[in-house]
Amino acid sequence: MVQKKTHFDFIEMKKRGEQVAWITTYNYPMATLVEKSGMDMILIGDSLGMVVLGYNDTSPVTMEDCISHCQAVRRGAPNTFCIGDMPFLSYHVSVEESIRNAGRFIREAQMDAVKMEGGEAICKHIRAITDAGIMVMGHVGSIPLGSNQINSFETQGRDVQNAREIIKDALAIQESGAYALLLEGTPPELTAFLHKKLSIPVYSVGAGGPCDGQLMMWADMLGISQTIPPKFVKKYASIAEIELKAFHEYINDVKTGVYPSKEYSYQILEGKEKEFEELLKEFE
Ligand code: KIV
Repeated sequence: MVQKKTHFDFIEMKKRGEQVAWITTYNYPMATLVEKSGMDMILIGDSLGMVVLGYNDTSPVTMEDCISHCQAVRRGAPNTFCIGDMPFLSYHVSVEESIRNAGRFIREAQMDAVKMEGGEAICKHIRAITDAGIMVMGHVGSIPLGSNQINSFETQGRDVQNAREIIKDALAIQESGAYALLLEGTPPELTAFLHKKLSIPVYSVGAGGPCDGQLMMWADMLGISQTIPPKFVKKYASIAEIELKAFHEYINDVKTGVYPSKEYSYQILEGKEKEFEELLKEFE
């Protein structure tokens, strides 16, 4: 059985310079395999809106969607450190509502921590949630939350003004009590600087290194999504091609009668063939 890592293990890994490998995961069958692989952590990202629910962006994703997917992942990966991603508007209305929503990830889905996208503007919410005893991972850089297309899915921090904002946001997030920070799409120089400057673990998703670990998106790394993945994605498999090939073979087998053969059918109990024949005759 996999030994579940805690925040203290990640701090020790940081001290040793050991990289954390983690991945987004959204459902039970995926989670069982991810846990079996020995992955260090799982993020149940609100990217589930696009990847498994078919939305164009993350703005329609609700608290109910997130909780339900977090619960499924937890059932599949009971011994892996899991982080629930707080969706659009779940921590923007009031501090009370933010605490309540963050608490649902812990109480209803047994998450180990929550992740919140945003900079200085959300720090009072991070403070309140951490004060309530909930671990928060901050997330800055390309943060595609909501319908604001200005920041979405582009690299960030490539010009001085933008890099300054990211540094200020990162410092404010640490100051607010976040236990870790995820950088998305920033240049490696900025990532390396923040890794050195901050005392909390700093992780990268498309932000290069050096830092304390790398996050990869499940559908992109396995070649499941049909869209062109971002530049930073390394494709480790082509699952969509394997699935399509299998679907085509199945369709062909059904249409030509190759499937189902005797091998894939249930047989009448041995010695009961005659009785069975008689029964059918009764109804002819
Ligand atoms: O929702 C998500 O999967 C994320 C990653 C893009 C970091 O927040």
